[in-house]
Amino acid sequence: MIVVKNLRYKYPKGKDYVVNGISFEIREGEIFGFLGPSGAGKSTTQKILIKLLPGFAGEIAYQGRALSSYTDEFYQDIGVSFEMPISFSKLTALENLQFFQRLYRRTVDLEPLLKRVGLWDERHKKAGEYSKGMKIRLNFVRALLNDPKFLFLDEPTNGVDPANARIMKDMILEFKQRGGTVFLTSHIMGDVDELCDRVAFIAEGRLREEGSPRDLKLKYGKRTVKVEYRENGELHTQLFPMEEIKTPPFFRLLQEKEIETLHSGETTLEEIFIKVTGVKLRD
Ligand SMILES: Nc1ncnc2c1ncn2[C@@H]1O[C@H](COP(=O)(O)OP(=O)(O)O)[C@@H](O)[C@H]1O
Ligand SMILES: [Mg+2]
Repeated sequence: MIVVKNLRYKYPKGKDYVVNGISFEIREGEIFGFLGPSGAGKSTTQKILIKLLPGFAGEIAYQGRALSSYTDEFYQDIGVSFEMPISFSKLTALENLQFFQRLYRRTVDLEPLLKRVGLWDERHKKAGEYSKGMKIRLNFVRALLNDPKFLFLDEPTNGVDPANARIMKDMILEFKQRGGTVFLTSHIMGDVDELCDRVAFIAEGRLREEGSPRDLKLKYGKRTVKVEYRENGELHTQLFPMEEIKTPPFFRLLQEKEIETLHSGETTLEEIFIKVTGVKLRD
C-alpha cells in the first residue's frame, strides 16, 4: 500500500536531519505502528506521508505510484488525526464536522459516530468549550467522516480516559476489519500491542527494529519457563530452558510441588522499546 525508501527530511530552518534514511512498508489492511521516544521523528514522518511536508529525499509510493504524482484528490481517501487536535473554537462540534464534510465527495452519517464517542449530546457545544479529551474525540470523528481507506493517527488515545480510549481502539479495529489500513504512532505500548499487526521502532530519525509484536517478543525474550512453587511455606523459583519442558525434571517439579505461577519468558513491547531505542517510557 505504502512503500517508503530511504526517507530523509530536514526542516527548512533546522540544521539536522530529523528523519534520517528510514525505509518501511505498510501493507494493505494492516495496522502499522510507528513507535519511538519523543522527538524521534514520528509526527514528522506522518506529515510527510500525508503530503504536508514537501522537500523530502527518498521515495514514497502509494499503491505503486509516487506520492508526488498525486493531486489533492489524495485527501479524499485518507483520514488524519494530528497529535494536537485542531478545530474552529467558535463553531460548535457539529458545525466543525459539517464544515469538513463539505470538502469531501463521500461522507458518512455523523450521528452514529458522535454517539459512539459520546459526543452526540454535546454536539451543539462550541468546540472551544470542549475538554481536551473531547477535542481529541472530535478530531477522531473528523478523521473518519470521509469514509477513508487509510487512517493516519498520531497518538490517538493520548489524553483520553480509559473508557473512551477503549471505544476508540474498538473503532480502529473495526476500521481494519472493514478493509482499512492504518498508520499509527504511539508510545502507549499496551495499545500498540493490542492494535498493531506490525511495528517499527524509530529513534533519532532512524529505524531501529521492525516486526510483528509477537515475533519481536520472541526475538527479544528468553526461551525459558519460570516456575514458582512453595515448599515448607517458602517460595522457590526455578528456571528451565524451553527445550527442557519435555524432560523428567520439569514434569517432576509440576507433579511434586505446589506450583504458584508458571511463565514463559517473552518480553514486553515496553522492554523492547527501551532496549532498541535506549529511552525509558514516560507512561
Ligand atoms: N516545525 C518544525 N521545525 C523545526 N523542527 C521541528 C519542527 N517540528 C518538529 N521539529 C523537530 O523535529 C524532531 C522530530 O519531531 P517530531 O517528528 O515531532 O517527533 P515525535 O513525533 O517522534 O515526537 C524534533 O527534534 C523536533 O524538535
Ligand atoms: Mg509526535
